[in-house]
Amino acid sequence: MFKKVLGYTGKYRKTTYLSAFVMFFGLVANVTPFLLVYQIIKPLLMKEPLSLHTALLYASGIALCGILHAVLYIKGLDLSHKSAYNTLKNLRISLQKKLEAQPLGAIQIKGTGALKKTFVDDIESIELLLAHALPEGLANLAVPALIFIGMFIVDWKLALLCLAALPVGILCMGVMYGIGMREMKNWYAAADKMNNTIVEYVNGMDVVKVFGRDGESYKRFEGDVKGYRDFTFAWYKACWPWMALYASILPCTALFALPIGAGLVHSGVSTLPDLALVLCMAFSVGPLFLKAMTFMSTIPQINHKIAELEKTLNTPPLVQTGKPFSGKGHSIAFEDVRFAYDEAEVLHGVSFRAPEGSLVALVGESGSGKSTLAKLLVHFYDVTGGAVRLGGQDVRDMSVEALNDEISFVAQEQFLFNISLLENIRLGKLDATDEEVLAAAEKAQCNEFLSRLEKGIHTLAGDGGKQLSGGERQRISLARAILKNAPVIVLDEATAFMDPENEEKMNDAIAELIENKTVIVIAHRLRSIVEADVIAVLDGGNLAAAGRHKELLSSCEAYQRLWNAHERSAAWSVNAEGGNI
Ligand SMILES: Nc1ncnc2c1ncn2[C@@H]1O[C@H](COP(=O)(O)OP(=O)(O)OP(=O)(O)O)[C@@H](O)[C@H]1O
Ligand SMILES: [Mg+2]
Repeated sequence: MFKKVLGYTGKYRKTTYLSAFVMFFGLVANVTPFLLVYQIIKPLLMKEPLSLHTALLYASGIALCGILHAVLYIKGLDLSHKSAYNTLKNLRISLQKKLEAQPLGAIQIKGTGALKKTFVDDIESIELLLAHALPEGLANLAVPALIFIGMFIVDWKLALLCLAALPVGILCMGVMYGIGMREMKNWYAAADKMNNTIVEYVNGMDVVKVFGRDGESYKRFEGDVKGYRDFTFAWYKACWPWMALYASILPCTALFALPIGAGLVHSGVSTLPDLALVLCMAFSVGPLFLKAMTFMSTIPQINHKIAELEKTLNTPPLVQTGKPFSGKGHSIAFEDVRFAYDEAEVLHGVSFRAPEGSLVALVGESGSGKSTLAKLLVHFYDVTGGAVRLGGQDVRDMSVEALNDEISFVAQEQFLFNISLLENIRLGKLDATDEEVLAAAEKAQCNEFLSRLEKGIHTLAGDGGKQLSGGERQRISLARAILKNAPVIVLDEATAFMDPENEEKMNDAIAELIENKTVIVIAHRLRSIVEADVIAVLDGGNLAAAGRHKELLSSCEAYQRLWNAHERSAAWSVNAEGGNI
Protein backbone atom coordinates (compact mmCIF):
# COMPACT_ATOMS: atom_id res chain seq x y z
CA MET A 1 0.00 0.00 0.00
CA PHE A 2 2.79 2.43 0.94
CA LYS A 3 4.46 1.73 -2.40
CA LYS A 4 1.20 2.37 -4.26
CA VAL A 5 0.57 5.64 -2.45
CA LEU A 6 4.17 6.75 -2.88
CA GLY A 7 3.59 6.15 -6.58
CA TYR A 8 0.88 8.84 -6.48
CA THR A 9 3.24 11.38 -4.95
CA GLY A 10 5.19 11.86 -8.21
CA LYS A 11 7.80 14.54 -7.81
CA TYR A 12 6.85 15.01 -4.14
CA ARG A 13 8.11 11.54 -3.17
CA LYS A 14 11.43 12.97 -2.04
CA THR A 15 9.62 15.54 0.10
CA THR A 16 7.83 12.70 1.92
CA TYR A 17 11.14 10.93 2.59
CA LEU A 18 12.68 14.18 3.75
CA SER A 19 9.79 14.80 6.13
CA ALA A 20 10.29 11.32 7.66
CA PHE A 21 13.98 12.11 8.07
CA VAL A 22 13.32 15.46 9.74
CA MET A 23 10.68 13.93 12.02
CA PHE A 24 13.11 11.18 13.00
CA PHE A 25 15.62 13.75 14.24
CA GLY A 26 12.80 15.64 15.91
CA LEU A 27 11.99 12.53 17.91
CA VAL A 28 15.65 11.96 18.75
CA ALA A 29 15.53 15.46 20.26
CA ASN A 30 12.35 14.42 22.03
CA VAL A 31 13.90 11.38 23.77
CA THR A 32 17.31 12.90 24.51
CA PRO A 33 16.05 14.71 27.68
CA PHE A 34 15.45 11.30 29.28
CA LEU A 35 19.16 10.58 28.92
CA LEU A 36 19.98 14.00 30.35
CA VAL A 37 17.68 13.31 33.28
CA TYR A 38 19.67 10.13 33.83
CA GLN A 39 22.87 12.18 33.86
CA ILE A 40 21.43 14.18 36.76
CA ILE A 41 20.00 11.15 38.62
CA LYS A 42 23.10 8.97 38.27
CA PRO A 43 25.46 10.98 40.58
CA LEU A 44 22.65 11.18 43.12
CA LEU A 45 22.21 7.40 43.06
CA MET A 46 25.93 6.79 43.20
CA LYS A 47 26.40 9.53 45.79
CA GLU A 48 28.85 11.28 43.45
CA PRO A 49 29.24 15.06 43.43
CA LEU A 50 27.16 17.09 40.97
CA SER A 51 27.82 20.80 40.68
CA LEU A 52 24.93 23.20 40.25
CA HIS A 53 26.63 24.43 37.13
CA THR A 54 26.58 20.93 35.56
CA ALA A 55 22.98 20.33 36.66
CA LEU A 56 21.96 23.63 35.09
CA LEU A 57 23.83 22.71 31.94
CA TYR A 58 21.82 19.48 31.67
CA ALA A 59 18.60 21.34 32.39
CA SER A 60 19.41 23.82 29.59
CA GLY A 61 20.08 20.83 27.35
CA ILE A 62 16.60 19.52 28.14
CA ALA A 63 15.05 22.89 27.27
CA LEU A 64 17.08 23.08 24.07
CA CYS A 65 15.96 19.59 23.07
CA GLY A 66 12.34 20.64 23.63
CA ILE A 67 12.80 23.62 21.30
CA LEU A 68 14.65 21.54 18.72
CA HIS A 69 11.93 18.90 18.78
CA ALA A 70 9.25 21.53 18.23
CA VAL A 71 11.15 23.17 15.35
CA LEU A 72 11.92 19.86 13.61
CA TYR A 73 8.38 18.58 14.14
CA ILE A 74 6.91 21.71 12.56
CA LYS A 75 9.35 21.46 9.65
CA GLY A 76 8.52 17.77 9.23
CA LEU A 77 4.79 18.50 9.24
CA ASP A 78 5.32 21.31 6.77
CA LEU A 79 7.14 18.99 4.37
CA SER A 80 4.78 16.05 4.81
CA HIS A 81 1.67 18.20 4.28
CA LYS A 82 3.20 19.86 1.25
CA SER A 83 3.66 16.44 -0.29
CA ALA A 84 0.29 15.14 0.92
CA TYR A 85 -1.88 18.01 -0.31
CA ASN A 86 -0.13 18.23 -3.65
CA THR A 87 -0.68 14.49 -4.05
CA LEU A 88 -4.38 14.90 -3.17
CA LYS A 89 -4.68 17.67 -5.74
CA ASN A 90 -3.02 15.53 -8.43
CA LEU A 91 -5.18 12.55 -7.53
CA ARG A 92 -8.42 14.53 -7.71
CA ILE A 93 -7.46 15.93 -11.10
CA SER A 94 -6.48 12.49 -12.41
CA LEU A 95 -9.73 10.99 -11.04
CA GLN A 96 -11.71 13.70 -12.82
CA LYS A 97 -9.88 12.93 -16.08
CA LYS A 98 -10.50 9.20 -15.66
CA LEU A 99 -14.19 9.75 -14.94
CA GLU A 100 -14.51 11.94 -17.99
CA ALA A 101 -13.18 9.10 -20.12
CA GLN A 102 -15.55 6.51 -18.63
CA PRO A 103 -18.97 5.63 -20.03
CA LEU A 104 -21.75 7.65 -18.40
CA GLY A 105 -23.35 4.42 -17.21
CA ALA A 106 -20.28 3.47 -15.15
CA ILE A 107 -20.45 6.85 -13.45
CA GLN A 108 -24.21 6.79 -12.85
CA ILE A 109 -24.10 3.30 -11.36
CA LYS A 110 -21.72 4.50 -8.63
CA GLY A 111 -24.10 7.22 -7.52
CA THR A 112 -23.40 10.88 -6.80
CA GLY A 113 -23.03 10.30 -3.04
CA ALA A 114 -20.49 7.50 -3.41
CA LEU A 115 -18.55 9.51 -6.01
CA LYS A 116 -18.47 12.54 -3.75
CA LYS A 117 -17.13 10.25 -1.04
CA THR A 118 -14.40 8.99 -3.38
CA PHE A 119 -13.44 12.51 -4.45
CA VAL A 120 -13.47 13.95 -0.95
CA ASP A 121 -13.17 11.30 1.78
CA ASP A 122 -11.28 8.44 0.14
CA ILE A 123 -8.70 10.75 -1.37
CA GLU A 124 -8.48 12.73 1.87
CA SER A 125 -7.51 9.52 3.70
CA ILE A 126 -4.24 9.62 1.79
CA GLU A 127 -3.44 12.80 3.71
CA LEU A 128 -3.43 10.76 6.93
CA LEU A 129 -1.09 8.28 5.32
CA LEU A 130 1.34 10.69 3.65
CA ALA A 131 1.31 13.51 6.16
CA HIS A 132 1.24 11.42 9.35
CA ALA A 133 1.17 7.61 9.26
CA LEU A 134 4.12 7.30 6.94
CA PRO A 135 6.65 9.91 8.15
CA GLU A 136 5.49 10.20 11.76
CA GLY A 137 4.64 6.52 12.09
CA LEU A 138 8.02 5.46 10.72
CA ALA A 139 9.90 7.90 12.95
CA ASN A 140 7.88 6.75 15.95
CA LEU A 141 8.87 3.17 15.21
CA ALA A 142 12.50 3.80 14.27
CA VAL A 143 13.43 5.83 17.34
CA PRO A 144 12.03 3.27 19.86
CA ALA A 145 13.76 0.51 17.89
CA LEU A 146 17.09 2.31 18.28
CA ILE A 147 16.46 2.89 21.96
CA PHE A 148 15.63 -0.77 22.49
CA ILE A 149 18.93 -1.69 20.88
CA GLY A 150 20.62 0.75 23.28
CA MET A 151 18.81 -0.84 26.20
CA PHE A 152 20.02 -4.29 25.16
CA ILE A 153 23.57 -2.99 25.01
CA VAL A 154 23.27 -1.53 28.52
CA ASP A 155 21.67 -4.64 30.08
CA TRP A 156 19.87 -7.24 27.97
CA LYS A 157 17.99 -8.75 30.95
CA LEU A 158 16.51 -5.40 31.94
CA ALA A 159 15.74 -4.64 28.29
CA LEU A 160 13.79 -7.90 27.96
CA LEU A 161 11.85 -7.04 31.11
CA CYS A 162 10.88 -3.72 29.55
CA LEU A 163 9.56 -5.54 26.50
CA ALA A 164 7.65 -8.14 28.52
CA ALA A 165 4.28 -6.36 28.41
CA LEU A 166 4.58 -5.80 24.68
CA PRO A 167 3.11 -9.13 23.45
CA VAL A 168 -0.03 -8.64 25.58
CA GLY A 169 -0.52 -5.13 24.18
CA ILE A 170 0.07 -6.32 20.62
CA LEU A 171 -2.38 -9.18 21.16
CA CYS A 172 -5.11 -6.73 22.26
CA MET A 173 -4.33 -4.63 19.24
CA GLY A 174 -4.57 -7.68 17.00
CA VAL A 175 -8.04 -8.49 18.34
CA MET A 176 -9.14 -4.91 17.64
CA TYR A 177 -7.69 -5.11 14.14
CA GLY A 178 -9.59 -8.34 13.53
CA ILE A 179 -12.92 -6.76 14.52
CA GLY A 180 -12.10 -3.71 12.43
CA MET A 181 -11.20 -5.69 9.34
CA ARG A 182 -14.21 -7.99 9.62
CA GLU A 183 -16.72 -5.18 9.78
CA MET A 184 -15.03 -2.53 7.69
CA LYS A 185 -16.46 -3.56 4.32
CA ASN A 186 -19.97 -3.56 5.75
CA TRP A 187 -19.36 -0.22 7.42
CA TYR A 188 -18.30 1.34 4.12
CA ALA A 189 -21.28 -0.23 2.37
CA ALA A 190 -23.56 1.37 5.00
CA ALA A 191 -21.78 4.73 4.57
CA ASP A 192 -22.07 4.58 0.75
CA LYS A 193 -25.73 3.68 0.99
CA MET A 194 -26.40 6.59 3.33
CA ASN A 195 -24.44 9.01 1.13
CA ASN A 196 -26.35 8.03 -1.99
CA THR A 197 -29.71 8.09 -0.24
CA ILE A 198 -29.04 11.57 1.18
CA VAL A 199 -28.06 12.92 -2.24
CA GLU A 200 -31.13 11.29 -3.82
CA TYR A 201 -33.35 12.65 -1.06
CA VAL A 202 -32.04 16.18 -1.47
CA ASN A 203 -32.39 16.01 -5.26
CA GLY A 204 -35.94 14.73 -4.95
CA MET A 205 -36.97 17.21 -2.25
CA ASP A 206 -39.72 18.63 -4.46
CA VAL A 207 -41.34 15.19 -4.77
CA VAL A 208 -41.06 14.65 -1.02
CA LYS A 209 -42.72 18.00 -0.37
CA VAL A 210 -45.61 17.20 -2.69
CA PHE A 211 -46.18 13.59 -1.71
CA GLY A 212 -45.37 13.92 1.97
CA ARG A 213 -42.87 12.27 4.26
CA ASP A 214 -44.63 8.93 4.23
CA GLY A 215 -43.14 8.18 0.84
CA GLU A 216 -40.59 5.49 0.10
CA SER A 217 -37.82 8.06 -0.33
CA TYR A 218 -38.12 9.43 3.21
CA LYS A 219 -38.43 5.95 4.69
CA ARG A 220 -35.23 4.90 2.93
CA PHE A 221 -33.52 8.09 4.08
CA GLU A 222 -34.52 7.46 7.68
CA GLY A 223 -33.69 3.75 7.46
CA ASP A 224 -30.23 4.29 5.98
CA VAL A 225 -29.31 7.06 8.41
CA LYS A 226 -30.40 4.90 11.36
CA GLY A 227 -28.71 1.84 9.85
CA TYR A 228 -25.43 3.75 9.61
CA ARG A 229 -25.75 4.97 13.21
CA ASP A 230 -26.50 1.49 14.58
CA PHE A 231 -23.77 -0.18 12.59
CA THR A 232 -21.11 2.37 13.49
CA PHE A 233 -22.02 2.41 17.16
CA ALA A 234 -21.98 -1.39 17.46
CA TRP A 235 -18.68 -1.55 15.62
CA TYR A 236 -16.99 1.08 17.76
CA LYS A 237 -18.38 -0.48 20.93
CA ALA A 238 -16.85 -3.83 20.04
CA CYS A 239 -13.47 -2.15 19.44
CA TRP A 240 -13.28 0.16 22.46
CA PRO A 241 -12.36 -2.39 25.21
CA TRP A 242 -9.45 -3.69 23.14
CA MET A 243 -8.38 -0.18 22.25
CA ALA A 244 -8.42 0.88 25.90
CA LEU A 245 -6.44 -2.24 26.87
CA TYR A 246 -3.66 -1.81 24.34
CA ALA A 247 -3.45 1.92 25.00
CA SER A 248 -2.89 1.13 28.71
CA ILE A 249 -0.58 -1.84 28.30
CA LEU A 250 1.75 -0.75 25.50
CA PRO A 251 3.36 2.18 27.33
CA CYS A 252 3.80 0.08 30.50
CA THR A 253 7.48 -0.59 29.93
CA ALA A 254 8.24 -0.35 33.66
CA LEU A 255 5.58 -2.86 34.72
CA PHE A 256 8.00 -5.78 35.05
CA ALA A 257 11.29 -3.92 34.73
CA LEU A 258 10.85 -1.99 37.98
CA PRO A 259 10.04 -4.77 40.51
CA ILE A 260 12.05 -7.58 38.92
CA GLY A 261 14.83 -5.17 37.95
CA ALA A 262 15.04 -4.08 41.61
CA GLY A 263 15.42 -7.77 42.56
CA LEU A 264 18.20 -8.18 40.00
CA VAL A 265 20.03 -5.14 41.41
CA HIS A 266 19.68 -6.53 44.97
CA SER A 267 21.05 -9.85 43.92
CA GLY A 268 23.93 -8.15 42.13
CA VAL A 269 23.00 -9.39 38.63
CA SER A 270 22.38 -5.84 37.41
CA THR A 271 23.66 -2.48 38.63
CA LEU A 272 21.59 0.40 39.95
CA PRO A 273 22.84 2.95 37.36
CA ASP A 274 22.03 0.50 34.58
CA LEU A 275 18.52 0.00 35.96
CA ALA A 276 18.08 3.78 36.17
CA LEU A 277 19.37 4.24 32.63
CA VAL A 278 17.22 1.46 31.16
CA LEU A 279 14.15 2.81 32.98
CA CYS A 280 14.82 6.34 31.69
CA MET A 281 15.13 4.96 28.17
CA ALA A 282 12.00 2.83 28.63
CA PHE A 283 9.94 5.80 29.82
CA SER A 284 10.96 7.71 26.70
CA VAL A 285 9.79 5.08 24.21
CA GLY A 286 6.31 4.38 25.66
CA PRO A 287 4.45 7.38 24.14
CA LEU A 288 6.34 7.07 20.85
CA PHE A 289 5.48 3.44 20.49
CA LEU A 290 1.84 4.07 21.31
CA LYS A 291 1.67 6.80 18.69
CA ALA A 292 3.20 4.49 16.08
CA MET A 293 0.63 1.82 16.93
CA THR A 294 -2.23 4.33 16.69
CA PHE A 295 -1.11 5.16 13.15
CA MET A 296 -0.86 1.45 12.40
CA SER A 297 -4.45 0.96 13.51
CA THR A 298 -5.65 3.40 10.83
CA ILE A 299 -3.92 1.48 8.07
CA PRO A 300 -6.70 -1.08 7.34
CA GLN A 301 -9.15 1.80 6.94
CA ILE A 302 -6.84 3.69 4.63
CA ASN A 303 -6.18 0.48 2.74
CA HIS A 304 -9.87 -0.01 2.13
CA LYS A 305 -10.35 3.57 0.99
CA ILE A 306 -7.43 3.31 -1.41
CA ALA A 307 -8.88 0.07 -2.81
CA GLU A 308 -12.20 1.89 -3.39
CA LEU A 309 -10.41 4.78 -5.02
CA GLU A 310 -8.45 2.42 -7.29
CA LYS A 311 -11.66 0.69 -8.31
CA THR A 312 -12.96 4.02 -9.58
CA LEU A 313 -9.62 4.93 -11.14
CA ASN A 314 -9.40 1.57 -12.89
CA THR A 315 -12.93 1.31 -14.30
CA PRO A 316 -12.37 0.61 -17.99
CA PRO A 317 -12.62 3.84 -19.97
CA LEU A 318 -14.61 4.31 -23.15
CA VAL A 319 -13.02 2.68 -26.16
CA GLN A 320 -11.34 5.51 -28.04
CA THR A 321 -8.14 6.19 -29.90
CA GLY A 322 -6.33 9.49 -29.76
CA LYS A 323 -6.91 9.97 -33.49
CA PRO A 324 -8.42 13.12 -34.95
CA PHE A 325 -11.62 13.05 -36.96
CA SER A 326 -10.75 11.99 -40.50
CA GLY A 327 -14.14 10.90 -41.81
CA LYS A 328 -15.21 11.62 -45.36
CA GLY A 329 -17.98 14.12 -44.90
CA HIS A 330 -20.47 13.85 -42.09
CA SER A 331 -22.80 11.02 -42.96
CA ILE A 332 -23.95 8.99 -39.97
CA ALA A 333 -24.29 5.22 -39.98
CA PHE A 334 -25.77 2.98 -37.29
CA GLU A 335 -24.66 -0.56 -38.15
CA ASP A 336 -26.44 -3.38 -36.34
CA VAL A 337 -26.20 -1.38 -33.10
CA ARG A 338 -26.87 -3.27 -29.91
CA PHE A 339 -26.79 -1.72 -26.48
CA ALA A 340 -27.57 -2.54 -22.85
CA TYR A 341 -27.36 -0.08 -19.92
CA ASP A 342 -27.21 -3.07 -17.58
CA GLU A 343 -28.19 -6.67 -18.26
CA ALA A 344 -31.32 -5.94 -20.30
CA GLU A 345 -30.61 -5.04 -23.94
CA VAL A 346 -32.50 -1.92 -25.03
CA LEU A 347 -31.34 -1.74 -28.67
CA HIS A 348 -31.45 -5.00 -30.59
CA GLY A 349 -29.46 -4.46 -33.78
CA VAL A 350 -30.49 -1.10 -35.26
CA SER A 351 -29.16 -0.16 -38.72
CA PHE A 352 -29.81 2.98 -40.75
CA ARG A 353 -27.93 5.81 -42.43
CA ALA A 354 -28.21 9.55 -42.40
CA PRO A 355 -26.52 10.80 -45.59
CA GLU A 356 -24.39 13.95 -45.40
CA GLY A 357 -26.57 17.05 -45.21
CA SER A 358 -29.78 15.12 -44.58
CA LEU A 359 -32.39 15.59 -41.89
CA VAL A 360 -33.22 12.32 -40.17
CA ALA A 361 -36.04 12.10 -37.66
CA LEU A 362 -36.09 9.45 -34.98
CA VAL A 363 -39.59 8.61 -33.86
CA GLY A 364 -41.06 5.93 -31.64
CA GLU A 365 -42.98 5.40 -28.47
CA SER A 366 -41.56 6.51 -25.16
CA GLY A 367 -38.81 4.10 -24.10
CA SER A 368 -38.25 2.78 -27.63
CA GLY A 369 -34.57 3.83 -27.54
CA LYS A 370 -34.43 7.17 -29.38
CA SER A 371 -32.37 9.07 -26.79
CA THR A 372 -30.15 6.03 -26.33
CA LEU A 373 -29.28 6.03 -30.04
CA ALA A 374 -28.49 9.74 -29.89
CA LYS A 375 -26.25 9.19 -26.85
CA LEU A 376 -24.41 6.41 -28.66
CA LEU A 377 -23.73 8.75 -31.56
CA VAL A 378 -22.12 11.30 -29.23
CA HIS A 379 -20.24 8.39 -27.61
CA PHE A 380 -21.57 8.76 -24.05
CA TYR A 381 -21.51 4.95 -24.00
CA ASP A 382 -19.83 2.18 -25.97
CA VAL A 383 -22.12 0.04 -28.09
CA THR A 384 -22.31 -3.57 -26.92
CA GLY A 385 -22.51 -4.74 -30.53
CA GLY A 386 -22.21 -3.26 -34.04
CA ALA A 387 -20.82 0.19 -34.72
CA VAL A 388 -21.68 3.87 -35.02
CA ARG A 389 -19.82 5.73 -37.75
CA LEU A 390 -19.40 9.39 -38.60
CA GLY A 391 -18.17 10.02 -42.13
CA GLY A 392 -17.31 6.30 -42.25
CA GLN A 393 -15.02 6.53 -39.20
CA ASP A 394 -16.03 4.50 -36.17
CA VAL A 395 -16.70 6.87 -33.25
CA ARG A 396 -14.43 4.60 -31.18
CA ASP A 397 -11.59 5.21 -33.63
CA MET A 398 -11.18 8.86 -32.67
CA SER A 399 -10.82 10.79 -29.44
CA VAL A 400 -14.01 11.86 -27.70
CA GLU A 401 -12.79 15.47 -28.04
CA ALA A 402 -12.40 15.07 -31.80
CA LEU A 403 -15.94 13.70 -32.04
CA ASN A 404 -17.25 16.50 -29.83
CA ASP A 405 -15.84 19.07 -32.24
CA GLU A 406 -18.01 17.63 -35.01
CA ILE A 407 -21.31 17.35 -33.15
CA SER A 408 -23.66 19.71 -31.32
CA PHE A 409 -25.96 17.79 -29.03
CA VAL A 410 -29.03 19.37 -27.48
CA ALA A 411 -30.04 16.70 -24.99
CA GLN A 412 -33.50 15.91 -23.68
CA GLU A 413 -32.52 16.73 -20.10
CA GLN A 414 -30.66 20.00 -19.82
CA PHE A 415 -27.97 20.66 -17.30
CA LEU A 416 -26.63 24.15 -16.73
CA PHE A 417 -23.62 24.93 -14.59
CA ASN A 418 -24.03 27.43 -11.80
CA ILE A 419 -22.21 30.13 -13.71
CA SER A 420 -23.77 33.01 -15.62
CA LEU A 421 -26.08 32.19 -18.51
CA LEU A 422 -23.61 34.00 -20.76
CA GLU A 423 -20.82 31.62 -19.71
CA ASN A 424 -23.17 28.65 -20.01
CA ILE A 425 -23.79 29.54 -23.64
CA ARG A 426 -20.11 30.25 -24.24
CA LEU A 427 -19.35 26.60 -23.40
CA GLY A 428 -20.41 25.97 -27.01
CA LYS A 429 -17.39 27.92 -28.25
CA LEU A 430 -14.92 28.93 -25.61
CA ASP A 431 -13.28 31.70 -27.63
CA ALA A 432 -16.57 33.33 -28.66
CA THR A 433 -16.86 37.06 -28.02
CA ASP A 434 -19.70 38.44 -25.87
CA GLU A 435 -21.34 39.75 -29.06
CA GLU A 436 -21.35 36.28 -30.61
CA VAL A 437 -22.89 34.81 -27.44
CA LEU A 438 -25.57 37.51 -27.41
CA ALA A 439 -26.38 36.88 -31.06
CA ALA A 440 -26.75 33.14 -30.43
CA ALA A 441 -28.99 33.82 -27.42
CA GLU A 442 -31.18 36.05 -29.55
CA LYS A 443 -31.50 33.42 -32.28
CA ALA A 444 -32.47 30.79 -29.70
CA GLN A 445 -35.31 33.07 -28.51
CA CYS A 446 -33.67 33.65 -25.13
CA ASN A 447 -34.16 37.42 -25.12
CA GLU A 448 -37.80 37.13 -24.14
CA PHE A 449 -36.97 35.63 -20.74
CA LEU A 450 -33.53 37.22 -20.35
CA SER A 451 -35.15 40.67 -20.39
CA ARG A 452 -37.27 39.64 -17.40
CA LEU A 453 -34.21 38.76 -15.32
CA GLU A 454 -32.72 41.58 -13.29
CA LYS A 455 -29.16 40.77 -14.38
CA GLY A 456 -30.20 39.49 -17.79
CA ILE A 457 -27.69 37.17 -19.40
CA HIS A 458 -25.33 37.68 -16.45
CA THR A 459 -27.75 35.90 -14.08
CA LEU A 460 -26.36 32.75 -12.45
CA ALA A 461 -28.11 29.61 -13.65
CA GLY A 462 -28.51 28.12 -10.16
CA ASP A 463 -27.39 24.60 -9.21
CA GLY A 464 -27.98 22.43 -12.26
CA GLY A 465 -29.81 25.32 -13.91
CA LYS A 466 -32.70 25.03 -11.49
CA GLN A 467 -33.38 28.76 -11.54
CA LEU A 468 -34.79 28.43 -15.07
CA SER A 469 -37.85 26.67 -16.45
CA GLY A 470 -37.46 23.57 -18.64
CA GLY A 471 -38.15 25.58 -21.81
CA GLU A 472 -35.71 28.32 -20.80
CA ARG A 473 -33.00 25.75 -20.11
CA GLN A 474 -33.62 24.25 -23.54
CA ARG A 475 -33.27 27.62 -25.22
CA ILE A 476 -29.95 28.26 -23.44
CA SER A 477 -28.84 24.83 -24.60
CA LEU A 478 -29.92 25.58 -28.16
CA ALA A 479 -28.01 28.88 -28.06
CA ARG A 480 -24.95 26.84 -27.07
CA ALA A 481 -25.45 24.64 -30.15
CA ILE A 482 -25.98 27.65 -32.42
CA LEU A 483 -22.74 29.16 -31.14
CA LYS A 484 -20.86 25.89 -31.60
CA ASN A 485 -22.06 25.63 -35.20
CA ALA A 486 -20.83 22.03 -35.63
CA PRO A 487 -21.43 20.13 -38.90
CA VAL A 488 -23.64 17.54 -37.19
CA ILE A 489 -26.61 18.48 -35.04
CA VAL A 490 -28.49 16.16 -32.71
CA LEU A 491 -31.68 17.55 -31.21
CA ASP A 492 -33.45 15.41 -28.64
CA GLU A 493 -36.94 16.85 -28.08
CA ALA A 494 -35.44 20.33 -28.40
CA THR A 495 -38.81 22.07 -28.39
CA ALA A 496 -40.68 19.75 -26.02
CA PHE A 497 -41.21 22.40 -23.34
CA MET A 498 -42.14 25.19 -25.73
CA ASP A 499 -45.46 26.97 -25.86
CA PRO A 500 -46.84 27.20 -29.43
CA GLU A 501 -45.78 30.83 -29.92
CA ASN A 502 -42.19 30.25 -28.84
CA GLU A 503 -42.04 26.94 -30.62
CA GLU A 504 -42.69 28.64 -33.93
CA LYS A 505 -39.88 31.13 -33.33
CA MET A 506 -37.62 28.39 -32.10
CA ASN A 507 -38.35 26.29 -35.18
CA ASP A 508 -37.19 29.24 -37.30
CA ALA A 509 -33.96 29.33 -35.29
CA ILE A 510 -33.55 25.58 -35.67
CA ALA A 511 -34.20 25.79 -39.40
CA GLU A 512 -31.36 28.30 -39.68
CA LEU A 513 -29.11 26.24 -37.41
CA ILE A 514 -29.51 23.01 -39.33
CA GLU A 515 -29.10 24.39 -42.81
CA ASN A 516 -26.51 22.39 -44.78
CA LYS A 517 -25.81 20.13 -41.82
CA THR A 518 -26.36 16.49 -41.05
CA VAL A 519 -29.15 16.49 -38.53
CA ILE A 520 -30.74 13.91 -36.28
CA VAL A 521 -33.88 15.16 -34.65
CA ILE A 522 -36.00 13.36 -32.11
CA ALA A 523 -39.54 14.64 -31.84
CA HIS A 524 -42.80 13.49 -30.37
CA ARG A 525 -44.77 16.04 -32.42
CA LEU A 526 -44.75 14.22 -35.71
CA ARG A 527 -46.11 17.13 -37.70
CA SER A 528 -42.82 18.95 -37.20
CA ILE A 529 -40.89 16.20 -38.98
CA VAL A 530 -43.10 15.17 -41.92
CA GLU A 531 -40.65 16.87 -44.27
CA ALA A 532 -37.64 14.94 -42.96
CA ASP A 533 -35.45 13.20 -45.57
CA VAL A 534 -35.57 9.97 -43.57
CA ILE A 535 -37.86 9.03 -40.71
CA ALA A 536 -36.49 6.13 -38.67
CA VAL A 537 -39.20 4.42 -36.65
CA LEU A 538 -38.06 2.68 -33.49
CA ASP A 539 -40.26 0.10 -31.87
CA GLY A 540 -39.12 -1.52 -28.62
CA GLY A 541 -35.43 -1.15 -29.44
CA ASN A 542 -35.81 -2.39 -33.05
CA LEU A 543 -35.92 -0.39 -36.25
CA ALA A 544 -39.45 -0.94 -37.56
CA ALA A 545 -38.82 0.97 -40.81
CA ALA A 546 -36.99 3.94 -42.28
CA GLY A 547 -38.31 6.07 -45.10
CA ARG A 548 -40.25 9.20 -45.98
CA HIS A 549 -43.49 10.18 -44.29
CA LYS A 550 -45.82 9.12 -47.10
CA GLU A 551 -44.18 5.74 -47.63
CA LEU A 552 -44.23 4.96 -43.94
CA LEU A 553 -47.82 6.00 -43.58
CA SER A 554 -48.82 3.41 -46.13
CA SER A 555 -46.35 0.64 -45.25
CA CYS A 556 -45.28 0.81 -41.59
CA GLU A 557 -47.76 -0.25 -38.98
CA ALA A 558 -45.77 1.18 -36.05
CA TYR A 559 -45.63 4.56 -37.80
CA GLN A 560 -49.34 4.47 -38.57
CA ARG A 561 -50.02 3.85 -34.88
CA LEU A 562 -47.84 6.78 -33.86
CA TRP A 563 -49.32 9.07 -36.49
CA ASN A 564 -52.91 8.22 -35.58
CA ALA A 565 -52.20 8.78 -31.90
CA HIS A 566 -50.57 12.08 -32.76
CA GLU A 567 -53.49 13.20 -34.91
CA ARG A 568 -55.97 12.26 -32.20
CA SER A 569 -54.10 14.31 -29.59
CA ALA A 570 -53.81 17.24 -32.01
CA ALA A 571 -57.58 17.11 -32.58
CA TRP A 572 -58.09 16.93 -28.83
CA SER A 573 -56.08 20.14 -28.31
CA VAL A 574 -58.04 21.93 -31.02
CA ASN A 575 -61.31 20.88 -29.41
CA ALA A 576 -60.08 21.87 -25.99
CA GLU A 577 -59.13 25.30 -27.24
CA GLY A 578 -62.57 25.61 -28.81
CA GLY A 579 -64.12 25.03 -25.40
CA ASN A 580 -65.75 21.72 -26.29
CA ILE A 581 -64.20 19.83 -23.41
N1 LIG B 1 -29.52 5.42 -17.66
C1 LIG B 1 -30.28 4.33 -17.91
N2 LIG B 1 -30.08 3.18 -17.23
C2 LIG B 1 -30.82 2.08 -17.49
N3 LIG B 1 -31.78 2.03 -18.40
C3 LIG B 1 -32.05 3.13 -19.12
C4 LIG B 1 -31.31 4.35 -18.90
N4 LIG B 1 -31.79 5.28 -19.76
C5 LIG B 1 -32.77 4.68 -20.46
N5 LIG B 1 -32.93 3.40 -20.09
C6 LIG B 1 -33.88 2.43 -20.67
O1 LIG B 1 -33.59 2.29 -22.04
C7 LIG B 1 -34.77 2.24 -22.80
C8 LIG B 1 -34.74 3.29 -23.91
O2 LIG B 1 -34.70 4.57 -23.27
P1 LIG B 1 -34.60 5.93 -24.10
O3 LIG B 1 -34.35 7.03 -23.13
O4 LIG B 1 -33.62 5.75 -25.19
O5 LIG B 1 -36.06 6.04 -24.69
P2 LIG B 1 -36.71 7.19 -25.58
O6 LIG B 1 -37.18 6.54 -26.82
O7 LIG B 1 -35.78 8.32 -25.71
O8 LIG B 1 -37.96 7.60 -24.67
P3 LIG B 1 -38.66 9.05 -24.50
O9 LIG B 1 -39.45 9.30 -25.72
O10 LIG B 1 -39.52 8.88 -23.31
O11 LIG B 1 -37.59 10.04 -24.29
C9 LIG B 1 -35.93 2.40 -21.84
O12 LIG B 1 -36.46 1.12 -21.58
C10 LIG B 1 -35.29 2.96 -20.60
O13 LIG B 1 -35.94 2.46 -19.47
MG1 LIG C 1 -35.78 10.23 -24.97
